[in-house]
Amino acid sequence: MTARKFLALLAIPTLILPGIVLAQAHDASVANHQPHYYDAADYGIDPASVTYADHIAPILQENCQQCHRPGGGGPMSFMSYAEVQPWAPVIMYRTAIRDRMGAMPPFFVEKDIGIDGFESDYSLSDVQLAMIQAWARNGAPRGNPDNEPSPLVFSDSNDWTLGEPDLVLASREMTRPAVAPDWWGDIGIVPTGLTEDRYVKSIEVREINDIPADIGTNTVGGRYIWHHMTYQSGVLSEDGSYILPDTTVSWPIHEVGRNADTFSDKAGRLLQANSALHLNAAHLHANGRETKGNLEFGITFFPRGYEPAYTRRGPRTGNGVDMDIVPNKANQEVHNYVVLAEHTKIMAFEPHLHAPGVRMCLEAIWGHNQFTLNCVGYDHNWVKQYIYKDDKAPLLPKGTILHTIGYLDTTAANPNLADPRNWAGGGRRSVSNMFIDLGYSVTLTEEQFQEEMALRRAAMKDRNDYDVGCPLCWAPETLASTSSGGSE
Ligand code: HEC
Repeated sequence: MTARKFLALLAIPTLILPGIVLAQAHDASVANHQPHYYDAADYGIDPASVTYADHIAPILQENCQQCHRPGGGGPMSFMSYAEVQPWAPVIMYRTAIRDRMGAMPPFFVEKDIGIDGFESDYSLSDVQLAMIQAWARNGAPRGNPDNEPSPLVFSDSNDWTLGEPDLVLASREMTRPAVAPDWWGDIGIVPTGLTEDRYVKSIEVREINDIPADIGTNTVGGRYIWHHMTYQSGVLSEDGSYILPDTTVSWPIHEVGRNADTFSDKAGRLLQANSALHLNAAHLHANGRETKGNLEFGITFFPRGYEPAYTRRGPRTGNGVDMDIVPNKANQEVHNYVVLAEHTKIMAFEPHLHAPGVRMCLEAIWGHNQFTLNCVGYDHNWVKQYIYKDDKAPLLPKGTILHTIGYLDTTAANPNLADPRNWAGGGRRSVSNMFIDLGYSVTLTEEQFQEEMALRRAAMKDRNDYDVGCPLCWAPETLASTSSGGSE
């Protein structure tokens, strides 16, 4: 065969290959989790020089001790060398799986694809992983104790993570026996007492219960009875017994293990005068110990007179109904497509699957381009929301197709499953399936959209700098002005 012919033959598969590669799914199966291993030498660090005192203790302070300390949410304390050293190999593994089920710290955004720009990102960097790995492989040496950073002092484990709120509202107290079926229900109305409209900047929900702080637990849920709470607010009816349906405002769900919610300066949420929370869907779960507890809602406000720039919410994505998840199979995919009817800014991504869930991706399809905005691992023990930094949040033109992809694994390798032999459709219990993005977006007027894109452009170095979340950022100005004319 001539070299030319040979090359021509090679060219054919090369042309076809990209399509095949795209269509071939990412391996999301739990059994095939590939840990991320790095070589400290690649970062100019002599692996033998990595010690607890100089390198590891600072990482633990910054990324782990808020949970791994007496009374924190984690099962063991990592406050001292003696406590940490026996766990070195497990710490190495749990941190190396990084974005997969079981990863520590629990922040599952994949770093090798999509947008890097989330609030409160406490994930570990490549070099931090490399240091942990070098240290663990080297027998977890202590180094010079004099070099250890002074211990962090934590206040009460149940303090508000966002600081003292302006307003605290309490639900009624409920009791769960040690062992009992799950309980669902509406637990009524909590008046806010507000006499004027206020916009909410952040809301944090915490459980106050009678479980002693020094009792260790192996699961996120072992310390709580409130599994989750879905709630709304609205203006109270005249007799104070319900909220008026056309005044309702929805709030992010409270779930065990979930972080607090902060709203963008441009999208504060309204809590009206004479309003109340309606705690309409509580889910309580027995934890093996009779427990009394209630929820507190800690709310901070924007200053009086504040008006949000963005008030309209974008569409929900996902498909909670039409699911057909077969037993004993990894890499099952579910897909959902939503066409954006308005320019949309995505403020937060919150993958929500159930026990079989292992990963969710969010893609934007614009014309013939397909952008992966983010892919996030999923562990049903940790229901996390990922809030985009304002200058990284996807800015999608109307007409974009938002494509959500869920990955599920129903094999015995998935420790969150009750039984890998079960078929499961959609449903509200964790043993059935859900596939929704509980994050939220806002819609923008043409003017707001252009303004946001101009800011984004100003922050980019040059035209080679590209923002996957902003497909029109570098579109010719003329295109922008045509569409603002409204004649499409
Ligand atoms: C937000 C709270 C939180 C943070 C932050 C956190 N952990 Fe955890 N960790 C937990 C909880 C809860 C568990 C038990 C449930 C689980 O494994 O998901 C756990 C489990 C673990 C385990 C497994 C223990 C076992 O029994 O096998 C290791 C190891 C671990 N964490 C290490 C770390 C390290 C190292 C960091 C920081 C780099 C960290 N964690 C950050 C809460 C946290």
